[in-house]
Amino acid sequence: MSDHTKMIRAGRKHPSMQGAVNPPVHRASTLLFEQAEDLYGTAPDRHYGTQGMVVHDALREAFCQLEQASSVVLTHSGLSACTLPLLAICSAGDHILVSDNIYGPTRKFCDEHLVRFGVKTEYFNPRAGNKIAEQIKPETRAIFMESPGSLTMELTDIPAIVALAKANNIWTLVDNTWAAGWFFKPLLFGVDFSIQAATKYPCGHADVLMGTIATKSAKATKLLKSYDRASGNFVAPDDAWLILRGMRTMGTRLERQQQSSLQVANWLQEHACIAQVLHPALPSHPDHMLWKRDFTGASGLFSLVLQPVCEQKVLAFLNTLQLFGLGFSWGGFESLAIHCDPQTVRTCDSWQAQGPLIRLSIGLEDPDDLIADLEQALKQLDK
Ligand SMILES: Cc1ncc(COP(=O)(O)O)c(C=O)c1O
Repeated sequence: MSDHTKMIRAGRKHPSMQGAVNPPVHRASTLLFEQAEDLYGTAPDRHYGTQGMVVHDALREAFCQLEQASSVVLTHSGLSACTLPLLAICSAGDHILVSDNIYGPTRKFCDEHLVRFGVKTEYFNPRAGNKIAEQIKPETRAIFMESPGSLTMELTDIPAIVALAKANNIWTLVDNTWAAGWFFKPLLFGVDFSIQAATKYPCGHADVLMGTIATKSAKATKLLKSYDRASGNFVAPDDAWLILRGMRTMGTRLERQQQSSLQVANWLQEHACIAQVLHPALPSHPDHMLWKRDFTGASGLFSLVLQPVCEQKVLAFLNTLQLFGLGFSWGGFESLAIHCDPQTVRTCDSWQAQGPLIRLSIGLEDPDDLIADLEQALKQLDK
């Protein structure tokens, strides 16, 4: 079955649904038992609300099918899905390798908080491939990748790094938010933890925060589940219901966002104010061949490098956009734009750009309208 069909059918067979198409929302902390003997027994398998109810099971099943995982942990934000497995894996004295293009708050967590527990983070060039072998130490415990990076769009040779990690008994984690589990399936490439901010494409409507961590091996699952239970992690049933609802249409949205983003990216490539369009599906992207080898498609998030221009003009360009909202996050039905300077946070010297960077998240509007909007706003750069 294709992912489209799987996402329509997942999690819809449970007696408590009583014929309804969608699972019920149980708001529950206490779960009652028939008899005292069951309180500390092994059955039933749900003892307390933190384990989740039918709607959580249904959502976990959908993500298991999407990521081809044996188990999925739901977390209360995409960021917590990045930090939770690191806390599950690392101990004092460990060293971890993190891609220099990693999501900024994950970087902050490593630098300001993991370090307090005696875990040292070292960054690597996301395009270094198996040259990162030089950075591996006897105490290296994990390699955390994000491909493509959500601002600068560099891709990582994940199979090469997984091979290196396996040879050295190191855990691998991938922030898979850009591909949404739809266009790339890290677990099939031997990655141990596939992480997503379900806030983005699975939600699709900019109204829920959630994260997911998918695992396949018994060892990774055991480690993650143990920490998940011990840390008190939980997501609200209403949020789980909304994410599951988003997943029913995620494939259709992604297909349109892929098409529209390519149309917009191709148009921008020809514009005189643009130095470079960073869209992995464009043959001009420096890592296009890696994308072609490992991914089955592209989502709607990409970046552009403007020709060198002063900040005032960049702000005027953004302020003149009518159809692009100015805001963080991405993957929703509405188009968004931000500007940023990745050079200020990177430490590996692995990112240099000719001019300012703009990131666009392409939504479900008509791409011709989006192009017209960009065209009128880009005039601010010529003034
Ligand atoms: C690549 C990436 N990972 C993780 C996150 C965190 O997701 P959330 O906003 O749900 O915490 C984001 C958020 O923008 C992101 O861009």
